Order: sequence, then C-alpha cells, then structure tokens
Amino acid sequence: MADTVAFTVNGKAVEVTADPGLPLLSALREDLGLKSTRFGCGSEGCGACTVIVDGTARFSCTLPLADVAGQEVRTAEGLAGPDGDHPLLTAFLDHQAGQCGYCLPGILMRARALLDRGEPVDRARVAQELDGNLCRCGAHARILDAIMDAAREMGVAT
Ligand code: FES
Ligand code: FES
Repeated sequence: MADTVAFTVNGKAVEVTADPGLPLLSALREDLGLKSTRFGCGSEGCGACTVIVDGTARFSCTLPLADVAGQEVRTAEGLAGPDGDHPLLTAFLDHQAGQCGYCLPGILMRARALLDRGEPVDRARVAQELDGNLCRCGAHARILDAIMDAAREMGVAT
C-alpha cells in the first residue's frame, strides 16, 4: 500500500507517495526527477547509487524509502548551489576526474560524507573509503587527486 514519506533532498523539503519499500534510488530518479544518482548492480556491490543520509554515505539501491522519513538526503545535484560550489565539484572539474562519468555521482557523495566530517584524511584513507565504489574506466588516480585537492581546500588533508 502506498504511503507518503516526507524528507529533505539537498535542503529542500519533499514528499513521495509510494510503496514504503521502494528503494530510495527509484524515488529520487523517478518520483523526484533527480537523475544524477545511478543504478549499477542493485545489490550494494558497485557504489553507483551512493547518497548521503543524515551525514552518512548509504547505498540508495537497497535503502527503503520509509527509512529516510524525516531525514536529510544529499545527492550530487546538491554540490552546486546559489551559495557556491562544493570544493569537490570544483576539484573534479579541474582534474577532469573521470571518463564516462557513470561512477562519479556515487564517488562524489562518498567523498563528501568523508570530507564533511572534518576529520584529517590522507590519500590512503580516501582510497580505503572508496573501496566499495567501482570505476570501470580506471580513473582512480585522477579521482584521488581531485579529492585530495578538495581536502586541502577544506583544510582536512594531512
Ligand atoms: S547500484 Fe547500489 S551499490 Fe550498485
Ligand atoms: S569514469 Fe567511467 S566508471 Fe568511472
């Protein structure tokens, strides 16, 4: 039976009326029209669907819509805004850190969850965090370069 679930996405209040077991990924893409978050494997094996829920990176392909009721969801669309771009967005553009780009929204969200915590990070720590986010184009080196640039900009690089 359909239910109405209220939450925020990138700071904006939204409501979705759907089966509460619907994956958050489907609600974002199909109900809210936010297409940056990607479907890859559907089983927590690739990271393409990663979003941030209340500050934590989560796989939206298996996260039931009902579980985000009242929570704050962030997607790659939220990296650019009227108050300026997140340092990660600038760094990824500067480094052209990707090839096909399919993996990037998920990688950006996992990296954002890490850097926004404000804890010191080095390249090895970032690589460890991204272990579950696959990039089939092999752009890992440029992706790590970009994330470390953003970490320096945010004052959390060691
Ligand atoms: S689509 Fe969610 S982890 Fe692959
Ligand atoms: S840039 Fe193509 S999968 Fe990562």
